[in-house]
Amino acid sequence: MEHITILDDKRIILGVTGSIAAYKAVDLASKLTQAGARVDVIMTGAAQRFVAPLTFQAVTGRPVYTSMWGTDTGGGLPTHIAHVGLGEGADLLVVAPVTANSLAKLAHGLADDLLSVTALAARCPVVVAPAMDGGMYEHPTTQANLAALRERGVTVIEPARGRFASGLVGRGRLPETPVLLGHIRRALGRGGSLENMKVVITAGGTREPIDPVRYITNRSSGKQGYALAQAALDAGACVTLISATQQLPVPVGAVLVPVESAEAMLDAVLTYSRDADALIMAAAVADFRPAEIAQHKIKKADQDDEAPTLALRRTPDILMAIKTQRAATGHPRAVIGFAAESHDLLENAQAKLRRKGLDLIVANDITAPDAGFNVDTNRVVLIDAGGAQHPLDLTSKARVGEAVIARVAALLGTEEEAR
Ligand code: CTP
Repeated sequence: MEHITILDDKRIILGVTGSIAAYKAVDLASKLTQAGARVDVIMTGAAQRFVAPLTFQAVTGRPVYTSMWGTDTGGGLPTHIAHVGLGEGADLLVVAPVTANSLAKLAHGLADDLLSVTALAARCPVVVAPAMDGGMYEHPTTQANLAALRERGVTVIEPARGRFASGLVGRGRLPETPVLLGHIRRALGRGGSLENMKVVITAGGTREPIDPVRYITNRSSGKQGYALAQAALDAGACVTLISATQQLPVPVGAVLVPVESAEAMLDAVLTYSRDADALIMAAAVADFRPAEIAQHKIKKADQDDEAPTLALRRTPDILMAIKTQRAATGHPRAVIGFAAESHDLLENAQAKLRRKGLDLIVANDITAPDAGFNVDTNRVVLIDAGGAQHPLDLTSKARVGEAVIARVAALLGTEEEAR
């Protein structure tokens, strides 16, 4: 697993309490560690009935803390008093799973085990992920405790609906690791370079219907657009993701606007860009659509031996429409486009940048086997409005996303104010 920039070198305290979902916290501890975080696990007594401390020790490569009476031996904490040392300098306290009992302690300031003492000592943001029977979760006492924690700025990860160990069905299951990771990233992204900025991102290849069964599309997977959305979220932005693909997991915190055709994407982009700070058009918008959309499936029997001929029409150019809107309203304040080219990459990209009135264009050679469509890596050149070219080495789409988002912060003048 590649390091995740926002988790890299972060000090995360992972509190694990006595729910059957404690076993899922092992995967979370492992993924956080693989992503580059330093994970210090605190287990309550009840948690140790479900999972052994050794398991967490093995996946984090760090001591696991279980008692409030011991002192730190070998964890390299800032002070030997474990609860103070753990809280001091931590970037985030995550309690996953948190039981109704531990939740009540956190809400009321009880301090009778290492986790609850550390929670009082820590000054960092807190994320809790409740996991309990549905009845316990819905109980007014639990809900009041959650409300009290939310009131204090604690992030509460909504449990999932599903089947419990008891066989009952309800809301109270610990969400899967990617969802937990998404919320953790969101909590760490607060105060980032795009805090309070509204960013609209398009992704995927549009589908232009021929009849109720068939459509014309292109090879775009949407991966680069989704990576951009995640990078913008990590920078603290409010992200609207206008997506022509529904195949990828939506980054936690993004508002998804599903669309199909270029026409529908145009409507959505114009609507959501009205008050946006930045628009990033990563979508591969179809340039042509069938002139007529058949109401019923086109049958081959109807055509004898002949194949139908498709007449095509031009689709609207979304960035050209945005150029007009921006000239009239000033929004979006920054506009970034992509240029997918198979030849004369830089000349074509420069021409598009000028024609479409962009602040930045991401030039993408789609003929390279390790870049462009449907792979996890990309090789791009960023070209700014002044014509300066910034080539990036072959890297992951996540890193390309981060590089583009850093440029967006520079364009919006927000990079200096961050944190
Ligand atoms: N784009 C758009 N509306 C379209 C087509 C493309 O807004 N109808 C946007 C894309 O999202 C991208 C940029 O314009 O950000 C360039 O897209 P690209 O397909 O590379 O270029 P085209 O404008 O289609 O030009 P050409 O056909 O010459 O490649």
